[in-house]
Amino acid sequence: MVLRATLTLLAVALLAPVLYERAQILYLFWRNAPVRFTRIDNLGSHDIKFADRIRSCEDALLVESQGLAILGCDPGRERWNTVMGVFLPGPVPSAELYAYDYKKTNAPESESLRRLEFVDFEYEADFHTLGMAYDEASSTLFATSHRQDKPTIEMFKLDLTAYTATHLRSIQHDLLHGPNAIAVINSHEFYVTNNNHFLVKNHPTLNHLETYLGVPGGTVVHIDVSPALKSPAGPVQANVVARVPFANGIDILNETTVVVASSSRAAVYFFSIGPKSDSLSSTPTPVLTYSSQLRVPFLADNLSVTKDGTLMIAGHPHMPTLGKFAQTRNVCNGPEDELTRAAPEMREYCAKSSAPSWVSEWTEAGGLKHLYADVRYPSSCTAVRDSERNVGIITGLYAKGILVY
Ligand SMILES: *[C@@H]1O[C@H](CO)[C@@H](O)[C@H](O)[C@H]1NC(C)=O
Ligand SMILES: *[C@@H]1O[C@H](CO)[C@@H](O)[C@H](O)[C@H]1NC(C)=O
Repeated sequence: MVLRATLTLLAVALLAPVLYERAQILYLFWRNAPVRFTRIDNLGSHDIKFADRIRSCEDALLVESQGLAILGCDPGRERWNTVMGVFLPGPVPSAELYAYDYKKTNAPESESLRRLEFVDFEYEADFHTLGMAYDEASSTLFATSHRQDKPTIEMFKLDLTAYTATHLRSIQHDLLHGPNAIAVINSHEFYVTNNNHFLVKNHPTLNHLETYLGVPGGTVVHIDVSPALKSPAGPVQANVVARVPFANGIDILNETTVVVASSSRAAVYFFSIGPKSDSLSSTPTPVLTYSSQLRVPFLADNLSVTKDGTLMIAGHPHMPTLGKFAQTRNVCNGPEDELTRAAPEMREYCAKSSAPSWVSEWTEAGGLKHLYADVRYPSSCTAVRDSERNVGIITGLYAKGILVY
């Protein structure tokens, strides 16, 4: 009897933090449900641009020296989304890269947005972008692609005067089973997040359990491609350096801190970068040690750090609404006849549906500030800002165009 009571008490004590944490997430979904969602707009004037030219741009990164934003836009995500589990039959459009000249926010749209031409890119027809990162010194763009055979990190050399992206090589590794965001250290070293241990494609039930229970199955992997750059047969060196529940966006905050968004915990995890571990390999692996976390009132998706050191956090306040929005884009954005054939309720839903966005910023001195919580621009996933030119860009996972403020 005493033993049973003790064991029960112990189980409750062990589970309580987990249940408390999960209850907070459920509370967020309750509070951010469409009927209760309180809008916030502290962006100042803003504009949705290129709505009829690009959609589903998951990533934006800034090349501030040139006042250019590189966008990766994948309309194919409506039929093929390996993170949210959309796998529809039929042809899947491929992703494209764009350069947006944000120096001229008032220029005609036809002048300020240019598509990058791929050169020698064998997998052009099966390119599905998630995270990207750019090493400016070597003009190397790293882009996660959920290729149908196996996910890869595609490396390109960008020429931003000729607007070309020349394919250099594809990086594949067993530790890159579900690659998502990339943070570059230098021309040959970078961190990649894998959002889940169980992929929705192979293990849908376990994947959902992992996400809903907030199990730390996601990884941060340190990659060194220098041996592979020296000779095509050279190995890619990969090591897991941290585990995070639903590891999503990642960036390097300063010399001593790496930040990782946990989408299942509605939090940003801070890791301190320790001295490199001893290793026989050419580049020793950095050691990341968990230091703290910042809770946010939405599921944090992607992160970026501005030149003045502000952390930008974009994400999803109400997952059920986003889930439905994602699953219906193939009809709502599909060919005209598909929409005409759809049931009247679906046509009505398409006409007025949205998925809420939330963008906040954080500094150690100023704390957390909310910039945008609204449905007018849907499904925000990345926010970047040029703090010198005072231009910010928000992109949406399933949005038409980008928001510029
Ligand atoms: C998020 O944005 C950063 C730029 O700060 C980029 O490096 C990263 O790969 C992006 N990831 C995703 C998944 O959008
Ligand atoms: C890096 O950022 C962390 C978190 O804000 C802070 O505690 C630390 O002092 C910063 N380090 C440097 C070298 O600025």
